[in-house]
Amino acid sequence: KLLIVDFGSQVTQLIARRLRELNVYCEIHPFHVVTDEFLRDFDPLAVILSGGPASVPDADSPRPPPAVFNLGVPVLGICYGQQVMMEMLGGTVERGAGTAEFGRAFVSRTDLQSDLLKGWFAADREQVWMSHGDRVARLAPGFAVAATSPGAPFAAVADPARRFYAVQFHPEVHHTPSGRTLLENFVRIAGFDGDWTMGAYRDQAIAAIRQQVGDGRVICALSGGVDSSVAAVLIHEAIGDRLTCVYVDHGLMRKGESEQVTGMFRDHYNLPLIHLDESDLFLSALDGVSDPEEKRKIIGRLFIEVFQKQADALGGAEFLAQGTLYPDVIESVSFSGGPSVTIKSHHNVGGLPEKMGMKLVEPLRELFKDEVRELGRELGLPDHFIGRHPFPGPGLAIRCPGAITREKLAILREADAIFIDQIRRHGLYDDIWQAFVALLPVRTVGVMGDGRTYDYACALRAVTSVDGMTADYYPFSHDFLGETATRIINEVRGINRVTYDITSKPPGTIEWE
Ligand code: XMP
Repeated sequence: KLLIVDFGSQVTQLIARRLRELNVYCEIHPFHVVTDEFLRDFDPLAVILSGGPASVPDADSPRPPPAVFNLGVPVLGICYGQQVMMEMLGGTVERGAGTAEFGRAFVSRTDLQSDLLKGWFAADREQVWMSHGDRVARLAPGFAVAATSPGAPFAAVADPARRFYAVQFHPEVHHTPSGRTLLENFVRIAGFDGDWTMGAYRDQAIAAIRQQVGDGRVICALSGGVDSSVAAVLIHEAIGDRLTCVYVDHGLMRKGESEQVTGMFRDHYNLPLIHLDESDLFLSALDGVSDPEEKRKIIGRLFIEVFQKQADALGGAEFLAQGTLYPDVIESVSFSGGPSVTIKSHHNVGGLPEKMGMKLVEPLRELFKDEVRELGRELGLPDHFIGRHPFPGPGLAIRCPGAITREKLAILREADAIFIDQIRRHGLYDDIWQAFVALLPVRTVGVMGDGRTYDYACALRAVTSVDGMTADYYPFSHDFLGETATRIINEVRGINRVTYDITSKPPGTIEWE
């Protein structure tokens, strides 16, 4: 297995992700736990030293134990990892002085044909992504330069005899297009066959859950979304019925959703699942409320209350399971305390653990969305379930601008179901990040048969996106839009006008509230 020593870079997890893509098993451990004894127990086949925010010339900057370089295994230093490696092996690092490079840079080859860069330089230069202030000033003995950039004369260096390699740029990020090739070369040099699988990850995750939970009990708020579902099924495999799932139906679910979720998890997976129908509670608290933030806050607060009451009724549990993904982890770290403004108060169970004094079980914390889907497949969740579009915690409340009524929700559910049905029938579902109907708080005049109608207007929303942070509207054909509008107006009583929302994000958001 491969050891990644983490010096605190924002992108360390991406190294792990790239290695998993190469079917190599790795673990990330923070530098302060990596001692000589740790290394002996871990017995790595190769070591990667990550980037990080510290500065090598500072007296107290972090170091790996020198033993890392005496294991006889290949070592790759990235960014800060390169600098610390050079310094420890006898080179020098200078503090940034007008040599900083941030973002895209180009490196060119030297005479050294390094195995590390095999497959690089099809053109004369390669694009890489840099993010450094300091840089290596003098190489450690034994190293030679394999690639240089204007700001980093030692952009890639190698000591092939000892199989030590170090790069100033970040091969793990998307903006270093040949970075994957570099990492692949490194793991091949280290002798990995690339035979690790998501099945192995699942076994390892199960072992880790067992170790963390011991004979404790776990409760989990199951929303029916992919993340909480995969987390729940995984934890259930690990600890069986010491897991209890709670599905809070706030009356703001889509058509047939509660039946699908409870049916699948209770009947198919045999998960201990408590289905709480709290629609009266939520809908009466939302009665007459039209401000979007107020809606979100009411739903968030009630959710915590209901969940807490249920946990108490079960006699408590030491652990709360959450389907937190790696992007959620980085965002909350990098923005915590920062000057970012709240665009929307997202509803999740984030306030729960502190309130309830519970410890968190977050088995997906290291994974990215597509990896969670793969893990879900590994756990036997059906494809149509795993590929489901995201659905926000506050549900239909934020797709019904203005005050919510049961009547409007019923109309919205029907229209939404038809829109999704159309998308599936036309084979477009998987090309779209998210699609839904928003019911507008206006009535407009129409004519059907020989009569006048005065009914609601609705908007169709469908976007493409990679992460939900930015999005573009989906370019449906006019035929598709026309057919869908006709179906909605003919099949749903209460809607007589259909519009298509062609706003991208930014400036729009995906949801309407
Ligand atoms: P916006 O509307 O902010 O949405 O562009 C971005 C993505 O986040 C989802 N979303 C939420 N998800 N709780 C959630 O779990 C929420 O409160 C929430 N609000 C928005 C939205 O559906 C889209 O995928």
